[in-house]
Amino acid sequence: AIERTLSIIKPDATARNITGKIIDKLESAGLKVVAQKRVKWSTEQAQKFYEVHKERPFYNDLVTFMTSGPIVVQVLEGENAVAKNREVMGATNPKDAAAGTIRAEFAEDIERNSVHGSDSAENAAAEIKLNFSDDEIVG
Ligand code: CMP
Repeated sequence: AIERTLSIIKPDATARNITGKIIDKLESAGLKVVAQKRVKWSTEQAQKFYEVHKERPFYNDLVTFMTSGPIVVQVLEGENAVAKNREVMGATNPKDAAAGTIRAEFAEDIERNSVHGSDSAENAAAEIKLNFSDDEIVG
């Protein structure tokens, strides 16, 4: 089925000026960018977005990292977009990411891993709603 998922190009990637290289990987996999904006999150926005991880030991560092510079937030659309985006991103830890994936090529470590992608259709809907209004998404 045609799905939508939320994608974020993280501060480690914007700092290295490789957003285009990352978008090329997404588009080459058949994902279409139907919404996109470059923003800088406040601490409150990052805390809310990653609320599911708030009990995890890496939560505070993650919030600090995600507010350390600009990010590019996107809605991607395509056949099985949630799973396809996760395939193109590769494993969370770049050490485990398959060759050719975004994280294998670009991620610096398990935290500075260049991209985020929703992990389920349900979370995708919630994450999209948190970041975009309906009129900012043009399919
Ligand atoms: P992301 O897919 O955005 O979801 C949670 C983020 O936490 C993850 O990518 C990493 O940037 C960061 N993170 C840092 N340490 C860990 C860890 N040990 N396990 C999972 N995620 C981590």
